[in-house]
Formats: sequence, C-alpha cells, structure tokens
Amino acid sequence: MQFEEATNQFQTLLSSIRQSDIEKFLVWSKQTINGVLDDLSEGDNADVVINSIREGIRQSLPLEGMTETEHIVKPTHGPNADCNPATTVHVDAFLYDEDTIDEMVEEGTMSRNYCVNCLSKQVKPLTFITHSASLPQIKFMFQYLLEDLRNKTVLDVGSRTGAVLYGAYLYSEASSVIGVELDPTFCQLQNNIIQQYDMADRIKIVHSDIMQQAELLQTSDVVILNNVFEFFMDANQQLKLWKSMSDNIRKKDTIIITIPGIEESLSRIQAPIDLGSWIRPIDISQLKEQAVLKYFKDIEDSDLDDIHMYQVL
Ligand SMILES: C[S@@+](CC[C@H](N)C(=O)[O-])C[C@H]1O[C@@H](n2cnc3c(N)ncnc32)[C@H](O)[C@@H]1O
Repeated sequence: MQFEEATNQFQTLLSSIRQSDIEKFLVWSKQTINGVLDDLSEGDNADVVINSIREGIRQSLPLEGMTETEHIVKPTHGPNADCNPATTVHVDAFLYDEDTIDEMVEEGTMSRNYCVNCLSKQVKPLTFITHSASLPQIKFMFQYLLEDLRNKTVLDVGSRTGAVLYGAYLYSEASSVIGVELDPTFCQLQNNIIQQYDMADRIKIVHSDIMQQAELLQTSDVVILNNVFEFFMDANQQLKLWKSMSDNIRKKDTIIITIPGIEESLSRIQAPIDLGSWIRPIDISQLKEQAVLKYFKDIEDSDLDDIHMYQVL
C-alpha cells in the first residue's frame, strides 16, 4: 500500500472508532508508533555508528565537553550576554541528549537546577549552553534539508567534536566533507575518530582560523555555521569574520545552514552587512513540522526551530 492510500485508510479507521474509545485508541497508537520508530532507528547502521562515536567522545572529554586549549569568550551583546558563569553549564548537545541528561540527573551525576539558598527547596533552573549541534539537528540537515550531495563539498566552519562531519558522512553521499577548527585538541580528537572509523576517504580536518581559508568558503557547495563565533571571538573579531563570510561565500546557489539565523547573529553585533544582495532565506517550516514528528517523542523538546537555511544569490 502506498503512502496516500495508507493515510486515507487511517482516516477512515479513525472516523469509524466509537467516540468513547478514540482517546484510548490514540494513546495505544502513540505507544505503538514510538516503538516502531525506535526499532527502525535501532536497525539503522548509520545510527549505530554515530552512537558509538558519541559514546567514544564522551569517554575522552570532560563532562562539559570542553578542552584545556580552547578559550571561551563570554558574549557581551545579545541574549547570551547575561549568562552568569556561576549558573551556566556547558552541556554538549551532540554527546548528551535529553534522555541521557535525565538518566544522569537521576543518578545524581548532573543537575538541572541550582539551590538559591543552600538546603532550602528554592531552586532555579541552570542555564544550559551547547557548543555542538544535537543529533536530531544533524539528521534534519542531511535527511531533510539537503538533497543529493554526490559530487558536492560540505564545509563545517568550526567543526569542534566533528559531530556535523560524521553526520554528513553517514547520512549523505557528499563526496567531500571538510571541517575547519581553531582548537588543536578538537582537531586531534576528530582525526582520531576519522581514523578509527575509516572515514578519511571523504572527511578532512583543517586546523586553522577560517579567516585563512577563503578558498574553502569560495568553493564549497554547502557551508554550515552553527553559532560558530559568538562564544569564541570578541565582537570586533566577529564583525571581521562575518564580513569575510559575506565576501567569500559568493558562489551562486551555495547553501548556507546556520544556527541561529544569520539575521540574529548579525544583529547581536550590529554588523552592517547587506543580506538582501547576498542571500535568500529558504522556507523550511514544513520540513521542520515533518521532522519533529520523526525525531521527537515530545514535540516540546524539539530544537529544530533554531536551524535556518539560505541560498546564495
Ligand atoms: C559552536 S561550536 C560548533 C561546533 C560544530 N560545528 C557543531 O555544530 O557541532 C564552534 C566551534 O568553532 C570554533 N571556532 C570559533 N572561531 C573559529 C574560527 N575563526 N576559525 C575556526 N574555528 C573557529 C570553536 O573553536 C568551536 O569549536
């Protein structure tokens, strides 16, 4: 049976259920569908590999997923400027998904709250900051947003643990996947994973400041920018970096995927870049609606809204 016929039959079935049994039937359907989706994803070899990579990286990094060689710059502009270091925790969304965090909270190895007055029950939620894309965000990029990537080059600017690169390798046929990363420890970590999982045929790591890699920006077909500068560069450097992005990512039809939207990143630092003559936003709202149902049991947990997509004019 094809999709359209299946949905028609499902509608017919729904309308034939006794009114008093509808809720019971829908709750049963929800459980059954979640179980089938879990089984589908467990049988997927790409998911098995990426989960094994996540587990390996969790073992080799401290809980907050940061290295001793990197330098975090607390934002001075925009909504993250009020992040109080005492009540902000860095939790890498690629390494620790909501279920893993729940398990850790239950074991007592992580907390979601801090105590306002010690021993009192007055608690406030900690602010969670991630410096990596989550697995659903990565799968959304390569399973929904980007079509055939054969003979195409994907560039992840600031590739960190390599999360996006492994996703591009496993969930797409991109012929070349390049990560540029400033931090030497993360470059070493990514190279270890690439070697361990035999991915060097399509993934390459460049240890560099992206400012020195204009040619990669000029020639790539897809450029991914996941909040790459905000926590790592001061506002002046960010201005120069965004200027370099808009000067160099100019090949017609290049796809740019960003978290958050470029408009938001630029407004935080008041960058005078004319977006109208550079890029066109692509409406991905319908794809988000479909993907949320696939990747999240509770749609409230979705982090796909942060993703934006553009095409170079
Ligand atoms: C928010 S993380 C993004 C991680 C990854 N792209 C992902 O989505 O999972 C940003 C990374 O960019 C790196 N970075 C910041 N500025 C950079 C620059 N000018 N050149 C290269 N890498 C940079 C940081 O070291 C950090 O690891």
